[in-house]
Amino acid sequence: MSKTFAVIGDPINHSLSPNIHSAAFRDLNLDCSYIAYRIPRGELKEGIESLKKIKIDGFNVTIPHKIEMMKYLDKTDESCSLIGAVNTVINNEGILKGYNTDMDGFLDPFKKKKIRIQDTKILLLGAGGAARAIVAGFAKEKAQHITIANRTLEKANNLKQFANKIGLNSDSITIENLGSNLEEFDIIVNATSIGLKNEPSPISFESIRPETIVYDIVYLPMNTDFLKKGKQKEATIIYGYEMLLGQAARAFEIWHGTEAPYNAMKKALLGGI
Ligand SMILES: NC(=O)c1ccc[n+]([C@@H]2O[C@H](COP(=O)([O-])OP(=O)(O)OC[C@H]3O[C@@H](n4cnc5c(N)ncnc54)[C@H](OP(=O)(O)O)[C@@H]3O)[C@@H](O)[C@H]2O)c1
Repeated sequence: MSKTFAVIGDPINHSLSPNIHSAAFRDLNLDCSYIAYRIPRGELKEGIESLKKIKIDGFNVTIPHKIEMMKYLDKTDESCSLIGAVNTVINNEGILKGYNTDMDGFLDPFKKKKIRIQDTKILLLGAGGAARAIVAGFAKEKAQHITIANRTLEKANNLKQFANKIGLNSDSITIENLGSNLEEFDIIVNATSIGLKNEPSPISFESIRPETIVYDIVYLPMNTDFLKKGKQKEATIIYGYEMLLGQAARAFEIWHGTEAPYNAMKKALLGGI
């Protein structure tokens, strides 16, 4: 029997998820379809009711619904309840179960490249929804310490408390006060939206070592100024599209119970960027 999937959010017309999942269906010859469905802020309840009426098999959740969607779930997996946000839902005869695949998606490139996180010192820029999933990922992998730098200090402080609560030593600072001596960090992640509009890197790369991992979760444009500066320092680069693919592959596995065709998904995504 054919199955239907969706991504919900607002705005949604530029989402790359329909492209990625449709490529996977074609590759594995699955009788499935995947649509982008715009649900404006404040209309989530009605939107979910319509999805249940058409017996949707599963859906991804993006901005601005990742936190509010928690209210409409009947069940949650561990990562979803830990992070307090959901990006993947499976519908089992009207019973909605939520997952957060952003955390595993973020960690996926480290696993693929065999980069060890344990005992490393991290600098995380940003303290929004994605940053929270990233903190949970670094805690899971037993990083030694995380410095959370954000434009708004209050949000960095809140995320610091979350990190400490789940066993990851952390401190917080504004991006402005970071300074240019960043030599101590093994991994530097941009989880702000800086770069989306081609803005310059929010930090100085003066002191960055070639052994440093430089990871930007912004995926459009693919080559942000932040990553270009990391490349100039010969650091190891991780692109935002790698996280995007990682979270999509994990969602695919939750819905279909089989390994995702990663290369076909990657080809479709890179063709679309
Ligand atoms: N690759 C992937 O799979 C993936 C997954 C999720 C998200 N993302 C990307 O990650 C980014 C963040 O997503 P999110 O869901 O965490 O968003 P969010 O919850 O809205 O958080 C946005 C973050 O960016 C900061 N920020 C925004 N504009 C800024 C500016 N002009 N200067 C300094 N800081 C600024 C915010 O700082 P304040 O707290 O000071 O406002 C906050 O820390 C987005 O670009 C999104 O596309 C990628």
